[in-house]
This record gives sequence, C-alpha cells and structure tokens, in this order.
Amino acid sequence: MSVAIIGGTGLTSLEGLEITRREVVHTPYGEPSGPITHGILHGKEVMFLARHGYGHTIPPHRVNYRANLWALNHLGVERVIAVAAVGGITESMAPGTIAFPDQIIDYTWSRNHTFFEADLTHVTHIDFTYPYDQDLRDKLIQAARDAGLDFIDRGTYGATQGPRLETAAEIQRMRGDGCDMVGMTGMPEAALARELDLAYATCAVVVNWAPGLHGIVSMDDINAVLEEGMKKVRQVLAHTVPLL
Ligand code: HPA
Repeated sequence: MSVAIIGGTGLTSLEGLEITRREVVHTPYGEPSGPITHGILHGKEVMFLARHGYGHTIPPHRVNYRANLWALNHLGVERVIAVAAVGGITESMAPGTIAFPDQIIDYTWSRNHTFFEADLTHVTHIDFTYPYDQDLRDKLIQAARDAGLDFIDRGTYGATQGPRLETAAEIQRMRGDGCDMVGMTGMPEAALARELDLAYATCAVVVNWAPGLHGIVSMDDINAVLEEGMKKVRQVLAHTVPLL
C-alpha cells in the first residue's frame, strides 16, 4: 500500500529519503503546497509533501489542504502519515513529548474543508466518529515502542485557525472541552483524507506549553524544542516504514 508523509513545521524534508523524482500535480482545487517528492525511505517507496511548502512559506490557514490530499490520492496513495508540531495542554503533554492523537475538535473556520460541495448527485455525510485510522495509529505506536521512545498513545487534538497563537482564555476553554493538544493544521486535513477514503493518522510532537499555561509562548522557545522533537519523529518514521 502506497504511503505518503505530510511534513509540518520542522519537517520540510525527510532525512534519509533517497529522492527518485519530484512530481508537479495540478488539481481541480488548485496547486498543492509543492511538487510531490517520490523516494525510497528505509527500502520502501514513499511520497513526501511539505505542508507549508518546501521553503516553509504557506501559513496554516492558507494551506491548500484539498489540493494536497487530492494530489496524493491521484498518485495512488492509500495511507497518509501527518506530522504536526503542537502545543501541550494537558499536564502529560510537556514539550518534547511525542503523541498519537485519537480525537479531534475543530475550531477552524472558513477553510475549504470538503470535496462534497458541488456537482453532487446526493448529499454526502462521511462518518468521522473516529477521525484517525486505527490500524495506522497502531503501527505508529508500535514504531515508537520499537524506537524505545516515551510517547502518549492517545489525545484530543484541538485545531485552531491561526496563524496567531491562542489567548490564555481560549486555551482554558479548549482544556475544558477536553483538548490535550493544540495545533493549526489538523483540520480540515484529517476530514479531507477521510472523504477520499485515505487511511490517515498523525504523529504529533509537542513543541511548547500552550499559551497561558506557563506564560507566553515565543518562537524561540518553540524552535529550541523543534529540532529535538523532529529527531524523535524521524525515529518513529524509520520504525514505521518496515511495518507498512
Ligand atoms: N498553538 C497552536 N498551534 C501550535 C502551537 C500552539 O501553542 N504550538 C505549535 N503549534
């Protein structure tokens, strides 16, 4: 089964990926974040796409999620591993933690969030009770175990609009809602993947305490944790590939 990795902040290229070619895909929804990179990672063919563009220039609310998912589906991808940097809300989500969310609460607005809105023969409501693919989650969790990493195998991902960070009150509301982590790109990406019947799961890396929990958040704080965190993500990916 063909697999793609969507890299987020801190993962604009995949170390160890032997690149075979880059493919430009035009979609009915516009242009993806960049060409799709084809390559071999630990002996297996994978595709890679940098969500924010290879130069990290596309902010979360401007990512063309529909074009990205459509392009991957068009190229025969069946599984998507999404990598996401997040802020930690619950106490177990300290900076540096790797987590595999199992639920989502969507706070984003006015993003193009569905493929099912025009030229319909009937109205379509996808099932999204469990937004992540359990089999792919299990593989990521097994990979993290195989890599000998500490990790958290569940959690609710709160997706915010960005690009600004949240207020302290917004984070308190999200905590009350049951969010364990906060990020800006988890939606509509997960729902669009489900609409295309792609197995989708997220490897999240906590890069800061969410705003207001331990004071303000600076990009310097985030950048200090990001590189260490992405090293762990690379280990997870390296151990996931043989399981696929
Ligand atoms: N809030 C929203 N998105 C994020 C954060 C945060 O604190 N950290 C990384 N992505």
